[in-house]
Amino acid sequence: MKYFIHTYGCQMNVHDSEKIAGIMEGLGYESCSSAHNADAVIFNTCCIRETAEQKIYGHIGELKKVKRAKPNMIVAVCGCMSQQTGVADKIKESYPFVDIVLGTSNLNLLREAVLSAQNKKRSFNVDFRQYNEEDFAQSRTSFPNAWVNINYGCNNFCTYCIVPYVRGRERSRRTSDIMAEVKSLLAQGYKEITLLGQNVNSYGHDLPYGESFASLLKEIGELDGKFRLRFMTSHPKDLSDEVIDAVAAYPNICNNIHLPVQSGSTEILRRMNRRYTRDDYLSLVQRIRAKLPDVGITTDIMVGFPGETEKDFEDTLDLVKQARYSSAFCFIYSRRKGTPAYSMDNQIPYAVKRDRITRLLACQNEVTKEISRNMLGKRYEVLVEGANTHYADTMCGRTESGRLVNFKCDDSYIGKFVIVEIEQAKSATLWGSIVKERQ
Ligand code: SAH
Ligand code: SF4
Ligand code: F3S
Repeated sequence: MKYFIHTYGCQMNVHDSEKIAGIMEGLGYESCSSAHNADAVIFNTCCIRETAEQKIYGHIGELKKVKRAKPNMIVAVCGCMSQQTGVADKIKESYPFVDIVLGTSNLNLLREAVLSAQNKKRSFNVDFRQYNEEDFAQSRTSFPNAWVNINYGCNNFCTYCIVPYVRGRERSRRTSDIMAEVKSLLAQGYKEITLLGQNVNSYGHDLPYGESFASLLKEIGELDGKFRLRFMTSHPKDLSDEVIDAVAAYPNICNNIHLPVQSGSTEILRRMNRRYTRDDYLSLVQRIRAKLPDVGITTDIMVGFPGETEKDFEDTLDLVKQARYSSAFCFIYSRRKGTPAYSMDNQIPYAVKRDRITRLLACQNEVTKEISRNMLGKRYEVLVEGANTHYADTMCGRTESGRLVNFKCDDSYIGKFVIVEIEQAKSATLWGSIVKERQ
């Protein structure tokens, strides 16, 4: 029997899919590369923007015919979209070929649900109250990197964002559980650990012994062996100097901070409920750069939030130039039912949003190009991560600061640290050659 997982959305979901894979393999299923060959298809969904959602409904719909031809095929919908109000009922009624709908804290029920579905019994459970998110066998797919959850959910309620409603309140894993997982991953040969949370900086506030994100970083930083530690996402309002100091103090912790700004306008930030001003943010960037001169800072930016004026948008462009991000994920604001921004006045017309995102992308592209040009001829340590499938005998990996570099070598290098000299740096894509093997 074969399973196929369709994963949408953020790294949180990518990692949840590794848990889903572990559960399916525990039931005797093997992974395969297409829904059409699978006996069980699992959609691990995202609802952060409307476009994501529409695409997913489209993909689920496509299985209707496949299921008619293969009536024993199991179809499951998990993840953030299924947790939205009304979605489980909608799928139950309008998508009769879907056997299972589970919410974001019900993965522990997947095993039973699949067994029931094998006997033609449908299961729907999006009950938020049962959290059992830690003890899953996982089937990891991202070697040499391993994802490790440190906190779940979010308490910030940015006014545009659906995540707090579909992922629930923030809760931290115990440090001892995280440490045990990290140590076991390093012992298995993983070379990069990426700590995951919607807001890693608030890690520990709900734990009993004064645990904090900085204390967690230090504890992992102290571990022996050559490996890289990354983390995401940092909410600017909670990034402490202690965290910056820990990144500076431990060579294993990468000089790479994902620091979503969302907007460069203090007024828009206020209405987004981000709880920092444009100046707070820019001075934080300065503090980071003063302590971490080689840092790569990346961000998320949104255009077209309700009421965003041309002046607000120009403030965003100006901030992008000042902050000098090595890259930015840029999004068009999408109206999410149930969030406060949904019912704000002055929703921005699509044509204006389109125009702004084009200008924003062009602006960031110039910054990225400049940073790339400065890397020409220099040497960087790179962890070889995997094949660049567009080119023969080409692998890619990232510098400590998070820049992706392509270079020629074979796949026996995957998981090794090498020194690469940058030879081509035209835009976001860097090309180089291995000049030295580290390990
Ligand atoms: N916890 C992270 C963000 C998770 S969502 C943080 O606070 O930074 C990832 C990104 O999606 C956000 O940073 C934001 O830029 C974008 N996003 C969230 N809601 C959105 C919406 N309604 N429309 C468009 N983009 C959105
Ligand atoms: Fe959403 Fe804000 Fe929480 Fe990030 S911090 S997940 S943007 S509510
Ligand atoms: Fe991630 Fe999308 Fe959920 S961005 S937390 S998968 S809504």
